[in-house]
Amino acid sequence: MAFKLPELAYKVDALEPHIDKATMEIHHQKHHAGYTNKLNAAIEGTDLEGMEIEEILAKVSKHSDAVRNNGGGFYNHSLFWSVMSPDGGEEPKATSKLGKAIKASFKSFDNFKEKFAAAAATRFGSGWAWLCVGRGGKLFVTSTPNQDNPLMDVAPKKGTPILGLDVWEHAYYLNYQNKRGDYVSAFFNVIDWGAVGKRYNAATRPKKATKKTAVKKTTAKKAAAKTTVKKAATKKVAAKKTRGRPKGSKAKRRVG
Ligand SMILES: [Fe+2]
Repeated sequence: MAFKLPELAYKVDALEPHIDKATMEIHHQKHHAGYTNKLNAAIEGTDLEGMEIEEILAKVSKHSDAVRNNGGGFYNHSLFWSVMSPDGGEEPKATSKLGKAIKASFKSFDNFKEKFAAAAATRFGSGWAWLCVGRGGKLFVTSTPNQDNPLMDVAPKKGTPILGLDVWEHAYYLNYQNKRGDYVSAFFNVIDWGAVGKRYNAATRPKKATKKTAVKKTTAKKAAAKTTVKKAATKKVAAKKTRGRPKGSKAKRRVG
């Protein structure tokens, strides 16, 4: 099934004054829709049709530039809309799992904020700033060029993104022109930390066994059971043989 442009959970003017209506309209209806359509065109009739987007991105180095650019564009923007809300802006609760992880990884929320803003400000040209979950649930901040992201096998630092900020000029130029720093500051007023927290929880939840793993495990169990039955049968036969021999003789012994 083809990928679908996700609907926004809020109105296009709901994030004003931080992100203006015109930017939201063009960004969602033109840019994101464009990535979605081009991704679908790039995978049509290939093995990638029907795969999850995360699965495609994980091996993106094996695919065309069209899949890399538009697959990244599709995923990144879908995440971006979902971590913003007109009711956003409050810091994550210190007692929440995410709040604790931010403290453990960055020492304080302000420290994290500084790192994230710096990643967004110093990304040369177009790209994204990310807050990601790495190994052991540890958080890290990174940035990627163009429509790349940390799920891709080409990313220098890989992890699961839970917050992303689009720093392409199309994301802010109408309202902020060249002042990317002001746009980054404004973004903090609309971050939906509840949504980011849900993503953090999902990324750190122990993975359920996939069907393949479950089948493998069952096969291994069956094989082990078979071996046990075989061993028991061999033991039985050996015991029978031993019973038939004279006392003290372990094996056939020739007495010369
Ligand atoms: Fe964008």
